[in-house]
Amino acid sequence: MSPSLPARARLGPFASQLRARCSNNAVPGRTIISSSASPATEPAPDSLDKPQGSRRKPLSAAQKQFLDRALRVNQAGELAATLIYTAQAPPINKAHPHLRPLMKHMYDQEAGHFKYFNEILAKHRIRPTAMYPMWSAAATVLGWSTGVLGREAAMACTEAVETEIGEHYNGQVRELLGWVEGMEARGEEVGEELQGLVKQIRRIRDEELEHLDHAVENDAKQANPYELLTGVIRVGCRGAIWVSEKV
Ligand SMILES: [Fe+2]
Ligand SMILES: [Fe+2]
Repeated sequence: MSPSLPARARLGPFASQLRARCSNNAVPGRTIISSSASPATEPAPDSLDKPQGSRRKPLSAAQKQFLDRALRVNQAGELAATLIYTAQAPPINKAHPHLRPLMKHMYDQEAGHFKYFNEILAKHRIRPTAMYPMWSAAATVLGWSTGVLGREAAMACTEAVETEIGEHYNGQVRELLGWVEGMEARGEEVGEELQGLVKQIRRIRDEELEHLDHAVENDAKQANPYELLTGVIRVGCRGAIWVSEKV
């Protein structure tokens, strides 16, 4: 398995299931982002809530609150992901040198996600979660302990985390596509910033689901005890998301 394959070319059956759950709720056959857009031509998401044309309306207070919460959770989640891989990598790479490129590939993608949400939070002056120090410690402990337990436990950790995060990002994509649909139905122009955000969250969601497939391909389900380990981690993820939305 080559970790250097493009993310969307690597979506396997588990990732596809999660992705399909979102796609089924999206507007059929419609893509709001031009596929010809290149990163160089993408607009900067510098004003998600300001009207920029006669047909553009600012976001409602409820929409701004949704974005504040969602982006705060996303940043915290990506911080945790980078710390999990940082802590897992030394024991895993030492015991299984062939996994070094994969561990680095997944870390590099998480670092990119974290950087993106850091920039978005700074640009829109959204406060990070007050739980930032606690999530940092918890993620490091989780990464270290699953790394020491071995390859299967480390991969089970990734499988559990990415299952929750994939669902989490799918929920955001569904919500934002609903906004876009409403704007279009009212004849309003959809701002480039909102389109850019949807595009980025979809890309990040696909990369998380790619990690999920890598984990399953590398024997996550052979972890012992698999059900307990993934169950505890998934409940922990849900709890962290819930808390980070609020504080
Ligand atoms: Fe990520
Ligand atoms: Fe990930």
